[in-house]
Amino acid sequence: MGTLLIKNAQIITMNPANEIIIGDIFIKNDTIHSIGSELNPNHVDKIIDAKNRTVIPGFIQTHIHLCQTLFRGRGDDLELLDWLKKRIWPLEAAHDEDSIYYSAMLGIGELIQSGTTTVVDMETVHHTEFAFQAIAKSGIRALSGKVMMDKGDDVPIGLQEKTSDSIQKSVDLLEKWNMFDNGRIRYAFSPRFVISCTEELLKEIRNLSEEYNVKVHTHAAENRKEVEIVQKETGMRNIEYLDYLGLANERLILAHCIWLNEQEKKIIKEKGVHISHCPGSNLKLASGIADIPDLLSMGVSLSLGADGAPCNNNLNMFNEMRLAALIQKPTYGPTAMNARSVFEMATIGGAKAVGLENEIGSIEVGKKADLVILNLNNFHTYPSYDVDPISRIVYSASRDDVETTIINGQIVMENKVLKTIDKNI
Ligand code: GUN
Ligand code: FE
Repeated sequence: MGTLLIKNAQIITMNPANEIIIGDIFIKNDTIHSIGSELNPNHVDKIIDAKNRTVIPGFIQTHIHLCQTLFRGRGDDLELLDWLKKRIWPLEAAHDEDSIYYSAMLGIGELIQSGTTTVVDMETVHHTEFAFQAIAKSGIRALSGKVMMDKGDDVPIGLQEKTSDSIQKSVDLLEKWNMFDNGRIRYAFSPRFVISCTEELLKEIRNLSEEYNVKVHTHAAENRKEVEIVQKETGMRNIEYLDYLGLANERLILAHCIWLNEQEKKIIKEKGVHISHCPGSNLKLASGIADIPDLLSMGVSLSLGADGAPCNNNLNMFNEMRLAALIQKPTYGPTAMNARSVFEMATIGGAKAVGLENEIGSIEVGKKADLVILNLNNFHTYPSYDVDPISRIVYSASRDDVETTIINGQIVMENKVLKTIDKNI
């Protein structure tokens, strides 16, 4: 820890006034201490000259599976339930301590290289301890948890667990890792999806999430067959069932939410549930296109996630932002899902989903220094043209343009060199 001065940058603050300014950012330990022009602090450990560079808040991905990074390219042309049963569950069952650790490290390296500084991560049934170790070592900000799945046909023996073990192991991990490193790491209960969980388990998760005040992160209404099974087993729609269990509240983060009826949307809005929109995964697994413009107009809390590497073949927020905007345009026209809405989902929207809107998601004094420095000079725009930098980032930027990534005031990648990622991978 120490002090860091970033000088002469174009700063996309995402503050409430939506200011974009040219100036300096002074970071003390993990926190943004001051923002302004010609800052001249008494003592600075390191200066980054960011002239002609753009600084943005680090991206926040609210749905990721770090344990799946190694499974890319397996079962690429299957739908969700077949893909889980034929590919993902057997592969997760085969994980050992090392493979979980390296799967997480590899994924985090990719995330940092593409400007993501916070993730909401779902692990597998076992060895989650080693994913937490990778998260701790890498410096990324994360909410993570062991997957919970105490029910289901076709689940390989290695992933089967008893309700009581699922709860006990989760609580043990929570007690070890929640609020680790001053809150950089947090625990999130991670029931896989309704059809993998008994009612007893889901009710206990509800109680524990309240007792410990931690998030619950799960998949919902992703796939038509999944929704049919939920209806058959519970007599309810997916979100109605979560609400009946008392899980629909501001601690709940739901990945996907494609197949929602009006009543379910209303529950989500009224109970303050957060949706993680995963456009790349929704296309790749042929799940569908979530009606985000409608949810946006209702004022639902929306953020973005790449999902696991094999659901998407990418962990890159630039792809998710672009897809989130593009897939809605044929239906809704050019402005319903515009660049700013998408950029908000990728930054401050994610911060709200994880309950850290006072700490991350924008560049403001007193917030944590989770920042990404972009070099957008690769674009062939005439220098005097007044281009909207957010539009430029959403529609044209890529991982190639990420130069430096800072998390909690720590430089985790500088001039494209990863600093904190285990070199054995
Ligand atoms: N639903 C239940 N498990 C999973 C998973 O691992 N990935 C995705 N995309 N959906 C799921
Ligand atoms: Fe997922």
